Amino acid sequence: MPDPTAPMPRPLIIDCDPGVDDCMALFMAAASHEFDIKAVCTVAGNVRAEICTANALGALALAGRGDVPVYQGCVRPLTVEPVFADHIHGESGLGRAVLATAERRAETQHAVDWLIETLREADERVTLAILGPMTNLATALTRAPDIVSGIHELVIMGGADIEGGNITPHAEFNCYADPQAAQIVLDCPLPKTVIGLDTTLQLRCTPARMDRLKAIASPVALAGWDMMEHVNAIYGEVYGAEGAALHDPCVILFLLRPDLFTAAPARLTALTEGDMRGHSSVTLNSPDANGVWTTGIDADAAFDLVLERIARL
Ligand code: RIB
Ligand code: CA
Repeated sequence: MPDPTAPMPRPLIIDCDPGVDDCMALFMAAASHEFDIKAVCTVAGNVRAEICTANALGALALAGRGDVPVYQGCVRPLTVEPVFADHIHGESGLGRAVLATAERRAETQHAVDWLIETLREADERVTLAILGPMTNLATALTRAPDIVSGIHELVIMGGADIEGGNITPHAEFNCYADPQAAQIVLDCPLPKTVIGLDTTLQLRCTPARMDRLKAIASPVALAGWDMMEHVNAIYGEVYGAEGAALHDPCVILFLLRPDLFTAAPARLTALTEGDMRGHSSVTLNSPDANGVWTTGIDADAAFDLVLERIARL
């Protein structure tokens, strides 16, 4: 029996590039009644857009959420040459996991066209969870600046400050893959919370946590284990026993439990040229703040919530 006192579900659009940690985020969102997931949009990032789309469909189907439509978006960045991260996520984008082909097919409308149409018609402002390169939203904002009236807030996985970068020494992947898009989105007049590597690298898939995930022993949990174990193996010599980071699930965690994070207002910009391409500069507590930058997370409580949600599926 649903709790009559529970708040209305939050209208949510997830924009992602599945990607193993994107899939973990999709699993969590799929299990969370706090969200009214309007759709999942895909974008070229970790792997080619077509593979991201198939992976999003497969992850939603495995999570029992074949009701959620998937719209494929931009297949390349705004101006720079595409960069992928299949060296981390595997050619399939799923690490060593294999997902059954979903019965549902992607919608035929381009994600950017759908975003513009949906946000213009929204009778309740929508939250956007951005888990990959920001090409789709940047394109929509450029073509239709008025869509800001349909957006409640942005929660974005991207950027790095103290932590340096993960695709270059200076840049985090989502900002590096499409720096022009990152600049457009960070400059847009919307409430935005940006969760960068400074935070996400605090949420690691340690051996003990991986054992807890595997012990759930459901198809979703075992698929998630296969995905993250693949990245753990690749990053073994880099991360050691700490394990790979759960980057994108931090966005869903923030939407569910913002109290698990520390954060501060900040001026956030993305550099677009030269060796510093994709570098996100963060000035905390700036009088010209254009967003909120998270600085930390209660990793133990956060991972407990990751498991609690995945165990529901
Ligand atoms: O830098 C981490 C981000 O890049 C995550 O969103 C991961 O999925 C990759 O897209
Ligand atoms: Ca991602």
